[in-house]
Amino acid sequence: MTEDLRRLALDALTTARARTATLTECVDDHELTAQHSPLMSPLVWDLAHIGNQEEQWLLRTVGGREALRPEIDSVYDAFEHPRALRPTLPLLAPAEARTYASDVRGRVLDILESTPLEGRRLVDSAFAFGMIAQHEQQHDETMLITHQLRKGPAALTAPEPAAGSAEGLPAEVLVPGGPFTMGTSTEPWALDNERPAHQRTVPAFFLDTMPVTCGAYIAFIEDGGYGDRRWWAAEGWDQIRQHDIGAPLFWRRDGGQWLRRRFGVTEPVPMDEPVLHVSWYEADAYARWAGRRLPTEEEWEKAARHDPASDRSRRFPWGDADPSTAHANLGQRHLRPAPAGSYPEGESPLGVRQLIGDVWEWTASDFLPYPGFAAFPYREYSEVFFGSAHKVLRGGSFAVDAVACRGTFRNWDLPVRRQIFSGFRTARDAAVHGERS
Ligand code: AVJ
Ligand code: FE
Repeated sequence: MTEDLRRLALDALTTARARTATLTECVDDHELTAQHSPLMSPLVWDLAHIGNQEEQWLLRTVGGREALRPEIDSVYDAFEHPRALRPTLPLLAPAEARTYASDVRGRVLDILESTPLEGRRLVDSAFAFGMIAQHEQQHDETMLITHQLRKGPAALTAPEPAAGSAEGLPAEVLVPGGPFTMGTSTEPWALDNERPAHQRTVPAFFLDTMPVTCGAYIAFIEDGGYGDRRWWAAEGWDQIRQHDIGAPLFWRRDGGQWLRRRFGVTEPVPMDEPVLHVSWYEADAYARWAGRRLPTEEEWEKAARHDPASDRSRRFPWGDADPSTAHANLGQRHLRPAPAGSYPEGESPLGVRQLIGDVWEWTASDFLPYPGFAAFPYREYSEVFFGSAHKVLRGGSFAVDAVACRGTFRNWDLPVRRQIFSGFRTARDAAVHGERS
């Protein structure tokens, strides 16, 4: 039992480090230290921050070892320095950052072998090791965003996802009303904001079976959607006017054709692929134009987890099994979402597809604590972000590893964000209010 846990933790840490290497070894030292966008840190900051977070939690707190490099803690504290200013910090050079992260890891693997995985909540079920593997994978996704923002020729490659199809799929399904269990108290590596499990009652609603595609989004653009004040929340309207936004980030129009830049390659926008790189405001405006709305976070989770046959919430849309390559597009196996309608084996009992993987899905909901929330193990992971400034995203993108993705996982960001791997699907109420028969 404990040996299985140690192996799981070791695998998760090793997988994360291999991905970190892929993301940081494909470019030269100049590219690692350059700032590719003021929205992002230099890649070399993420690299050493990954090591520093691991040093603080696994080496010092779990292992009780003496600090390796306490003098760099403040440089790699995300709250002390905004991303735009991180290039001005005394950062470890690329070779030093690599050596540091691997020195920390070597000691952590000793600790993983010898620490009892019980008795302290932090190490119960190897939680702290799972938390740090998730943290590294989250920064790997952040580094992938930096790669997408970077100018110049492609540095990363990956095979194309298999061609999937929406043929025969209805556009939407009815999710029956009633209570379901939201969140979790049993998933061992679930983070604090996913806890505790609690009952929610969700009225019946209709949900798209697939994420909104580029083709559908183009219909919104060509109908003058970006020029029509009616569809936009006030702050969203201000943002698109002020920054002259008329299409998803990385898109441009060339004569009659829409092109996009994707990891250093310019290509025609694929009509059947879920739309990516839209803000919450753009998703919200599209939904209003379509006569629909964004699903709330509880609607999304009910559609993804509730099994009507057993009246139970499961870990994933397809059941309790960990994600396989047949279930979902995760883990940077591909550098793009799969066509809408792909992954039939990953569909929910009601027939909703691609809830996990492909694109992060904006929801209508603010990022708020669940009833009974308790920060663990540190307030700065979730608690300081609760409130109306951030919107919740669900489901994970092609850039999320399975260790940091599940039916209960909650991501959040500012509603203006567009560089993240964000898309959406839409919903509508099942009961038409005000209608008379
Ligand atoms: C949960 C993705 C919003 O990247 O800001 C990384 C994850 N927290 N280091 C982020 C995180 C601390 C976080 N998100
Ligand atoms: Fe971090």
